[in-house]
Amino acid sequence: MKLTVFNGSPRGTNSNTKILLEQFLKGFSENPGNEYELIYLIHVDKQEVFVEKFSSAETVLLACPLYTDAMPAIVKTFIESLSTLKERKENPPIGFIIQSGFPEAIHSRPLERYMVKLAKRLGCPLYGTAVRGGIEGIQNMPPYMTKKVFNLFYTLGKGFGTTGRFDPEVVKKVAGRERFSNAAKITVKIMSVLKLSDMYWNSLLKKNDAYDQRYAKPYAED
Ligand SMILES: Cc1cc2nc3c(=O)[nH]c(=O)nc-3n(C[C@H](O)[C@H](O)[C@H](O)COP(=O)(O)O)c2cc1C
Repeated sequence: MKLTVFNGSPRGTNSNTKILLEQFLKGFSENPGNEYELIYLIHVDKQEVFVEKFSSAETVLLACPLYTDAMPAIVKTFIESLSTLKERKENPPIGFIIQSGFPEAIHSRPLERYMVKLAKRLGCPLYGTAVRGGIEGIQNMPPYMTKKVFNLFYTLGKGFGTTGRFDPEVVKKVAGRERFSNAAKITVKIMSVLKLSDMYWNSLLKKNDAYDQRYAKPYAED
């Protein structure tokens, strides 16, 4: 199988999407004869190339992070550029991976439903969708903390490389917890009251020299 992979993260080669895809593609490539091409949607000026790659693909995988409960703008731009292929008969089979910062899988379900609808509208047979929460921070985690999730993506890729579809049982394991348990909700509440849940994000804001503007409302201003 030849797989054309679109990475829809604005972080491009520094993305968490890339890290998860590496595991997926490691498993996928173990099946003899499987090969893939990786394309980064961050190169927004290449929409024509992307459309050509999509239309000539044997099979497509679109992987992206969840951004503001939806998708990054570069993914939407890409999807809109595919509108010219809507009436084509021979659009490739497609699958989706959506990963998010919040730990509960439920955050990604609306975008997942959008992607399923997109596949239908494009006339692309859908071979599977997988969502996973709690991914922000994986770049700073020690191997013992990422081992489980990396294994899950490897297993998902390996199964896909053999059967051409996502195994629903593996997809379920990849999703992990759909919602917090009551005990977890209390822990989150305590962390929030103690402002511990803000620490990571505040450090990112400070690193990017944006901390002082954290309450800015650019669209509410003139
Ligand atoms: C602008 C922005 C918006 C985000 N919005 C959400 C969100 O609505 N829900 C969520 O769970 N995570 C959200 N996140 C977290 C990302 O989904 C998460 O960090 C992801 O792992 C980033 O993947 P990437 O490195 O491949 O871009 C957001 C991150 C950014 C930068």
